[in-house]
Amino acid sequence: MKLLVVGGGGREHAIIKKLKENPEVEKIFALPGNGGIAADAECVPIGAKDIPAIVAFALEQQVDYAVVAPDDPLVLGAVDALNEKGIPCFGPTAAAAQIEGSKVFAKDLMKKYGIPTAAYESFDDAAAALCYLETAEMPIVVKADGLALGKGVIIAQTREEARQAVISMMEESMFGQSGSRVVIEEFLTGPEVSVLSFTDGETVVPMVSSMDHKRARDNDEGLNTGGMGTVAPNPYYTEAIAAQCMEEIFLPTIRAMKTEGRPFQGCLYFGLMLTPKGPKVIEYNCRFGDPETQVVLPLLESDLLTVMRATTEGTLAQTEVKFSDKSACCVILASDGYPQKYQSGFEMTIAPEALPHAFVAGAKLAEWRIPCPRPSRRPIHLRAWCILKTPTAAGTSAHGP
Ligand code: AMP
Ligand code: GLY
Repeated sequence: MKLLVVGGGGREHAIIKKLKENPEVEKIFALPGNGGIAADAECVPIGAKDIPAIVAFALEQQVDYAVVAPDDPLVLGAVDALNEKGIPCFGPTAAAAQIEGSKVFAKDLMKKYGIPTAAYESFDDAAAALCYLETAEMPIVVKADGLALGKGVIIAQTREEARQAVISMMEESMFGQSGSRVVIEEFLTGPEVSVLSFTDGETVVPMVSSMDHKRARDNDEGLNTGGMGTVAPNPYYTEAIAAQCMEEIFLPTIRAMKTEGRPFQGCLYFGLMLTPKGPKVIEYNCRFGDPETQVVLPLLESDLLTVMRATTEGTLAQTEVKFSDKSACCVILASDGYPQKYQSGFEMTIAPEALPHAFVAGAKLAEWRIPCPRPSRRPIHLRAWCILKTPTAAGTSAHGP
């Protein structure tokens, strides 16, 4: 089988490594992939948002199955475009991806179907948003409606910070069109849990839970990032909480999307907060999380391709999805300064024994430094071109710290 994976980060590297475990997989193309992924797949320089080029490439290469991993191409309709040409695909349609593509859509869906989430108001007019803030309780959370590279959420401690957030998003277009509407919501407290799930639109199968550590630097002293590391399972997520989430959040969400005529097929990511009043949804993502995938997929014991195809074919209820009861941990190694300004161009070598557990983002392949007759035993030598995100210690408890 020939597969195509759209995307080029650590998450896609973890997906590709797992897909390769299926003996029927002869070839995987990564669009665009990166220098680390090049050790596991053929990287093709086509951007993840260039949907016409992705479709043309998939047709030319006669790929049997495609996986669209990042949010942007999903929201832009990559799955719809591939399906139209008869290429089966893992991931939601653009209509279903709105669950991440529009926070207003997601919040309204939760309100309509009684799914627990933070109380909120949405605004498409800056003056009305500013007026609302005059009497709102602080702290408060201001969210840009659309995709904003994971930066569209501002937790304002004071009224002035909240006002500034609204002004930057709505009047100064800090996130372009994505901030033309905002959601202003109640500030919640409690441990956060990420639950990625497989769903075919009817059945939902949660994967092992995980916890994302978002701040850079030791002791949580740095800025918020997309994620500096993850552990799985999440120590706060007990079996009783999991059962409650299934009844109150997971199943109602899948049913709501179906009722709305937007059945969700693919990976639906539930970002939860375990508040004193019970689990609540902080966000939905229409895709695998990064770096959650790097700890969740190594614990998957079932064949990933089989499970993915079951989500596409609507046969998830009859498909075994089994996770190991071990633990996994992922640590991100990033250039100093991340997530703000950082230096690039450093060299990095990954030793052969680390390769099975190293997931790479933002690096170009510099050279195969040490010639070796067995490609899988070669160290890979990389040059970071934007940011090097390489877990130093990832994998199951048998290998991790
Ligand atoms: P999001 O981009 O929606 O995942 O939000 C980024 C982060 O902001 C979350 O992981 C939470 O840590 C925090 N956050 C978002 N919404 C709230 C909320 N209503 N109350 C407290 N923290 C929040
Ligand atoms: N780690 C959070 C995300 O993937 O959105």
